[in-house]
Amino acid sequence: MVERETWATRTGFILAAVGSAVGLGNIWRFPFVTGEGGGAAFLLVYLLFVALVGFPAILVEFVVGRKTKRNPVGALIELGGDAWKYVGGIFIVTGFVILSFYSVVAGWFIRYFLEGFRGSYSSHLAGYEDAAAEAGEPAALLMFGDLSVGLDAFFFHTIFMAMTIGVVALGIRQGIELAVKVMVPAIVVLLIGMAVWVFTLPDAGAGYEYYLSPEFGVIADNWMGLLPAAAGQAFFTLSLGMGVMITYASYLGEDRNLAKDGTAIIGFDTGIAFLTGLVVFPIFFSAGITEPGDGGPGAIFVSMTEAFATISGGHLIGLLFFGTVAIAALSSAISLLEVVTAYVIDEKGVERWKAALGMGGVIYLLGVPVTYDLIFLDLLDGFADGVLLVFGALMLVILVGWITPKFAVQELEKGIGDLGSLGTVWIWVIRLPILVVLVVSLSLGVMDYV
Ligand code: PHE
Ligand code: NA
Repeated sequence: MVERETWATRTGFILAAVGSAVGLGNIWRFPFVTGEGGGAAFLLVYLLFVALVGFPAILVEFVVGRKTKRNPVGALIELGGDAWKYVGGIFIVTGFVILSFYSVVAGWFIRYFLEGFRGSYSSHLAGYEDAAAEAGEPAALLMFGDLSVGLDAFFFHTIFMAMTIGVVALGIRQGIELAVKVMVPAIVVLLIGMAVWVFTLPDAGAGYEYYLSPEFGVIADNWMGLLPAAAGQAFFTLSLGMGVMITYASYLGEDRNLAKDGTAIIGFDTGIAFLTGLVVFPIFFSAGITEPGDGGPGAIFVSMTEAFATISGGHLIGLLFFGTVAIAALSSAISLLEVVTAYVIDEKGVERWKAALGMGGVIYLLGVPVTYDLIFLDLLDGFADGVLLVFGALMLVILVGWITPKFAVQELEKGIGDLGSLGTVWIWVIRLPILVVLVVSLSLGVMDYV
């Protein structure tokens, strides 16, 4: 038997997991779903969801992966029996769907990155000012409408998908670890810098208020919309519910403290999303956009081009920002394609490069309609996050909580030591309250979707 590969360095696992987690979910998706959810009300429900459901759920994926040392489909079959291959199949489908639109959005970041080389963002916006005045909309929104669909979008989707396939086909791990090591700190520094600058904007206060001061009445009235939206965002941003964390933990030795690693990964991911909001909303209000939900998937592009057009030297910061996010997106896209590819390699015996190219090619085609009309983005994103990921997480909770709880606690204790009654608490938390929350979120998500 071939010795299974493990992470080359002690930090390899953390870096790859953070690389998968931190991506468009934090910087592109978080601000716009927060806007659609009304700001602070959404933020609060989301943060609670991450802490109370996301943390136990990431541990579930970790123990499944490290125990079975297999790809997600193989892992489910080993633990639950043959019928679980269908759930595994849904994980693979989820990877397909998410990566198809993810690549198109990542392409937008590459596009905006290149704009930074073609001159200042204010000069780009100037081209849209007349049309904007006529339509009564911000120029940055028109610019986004222009760049997000059409041949450009198609072209950059092609570039991004080719890069993703290339990395997965060649199995260049070291490159990714290095990229993550540089990129995550770079994003943090850029966002903190922006957050400080934003603080000086005239209408920043209204932005902070919108983002940070929840009205509990609003939450009580809207919980049926907020809960599935927060669930979808939490699983998406943490890369949970489709086997990425199972796959990455399958390459682990026994000595890692999974609770500690999980806390670090979630902490990074949540911190970056939170910071992004601190930047985006004050910019919106200062630019006179008081309905942040209206920006939709363009929110981050609109707010950032507005900002980079105002700051002196803004196009340098801008191209750094958009470029760094594109790299962050690449490390997430790799994890998505890796799950699909690893499955085909393990279960069908196909060579790595063929698997990556074949699966990546199909995913690429699935993304093409998104470059034509954003309605497809809505459809794919809504289905993947609101339905598929929540379903995947629910299945894992049933498997680990109800069918194979014994191994789970033992596995978690490796690298931590005797958990005593905490292990039992964890199992009961996933068995009942989390199970119920997931069933409710999923039902509401399905109702929202259809
Ligand atoms: N977590 C990634 C992000 O926030 C997206 C992702 C989702 C990656 C699911 C893998 C699996 O950008
Ligand atoms: Na994320």
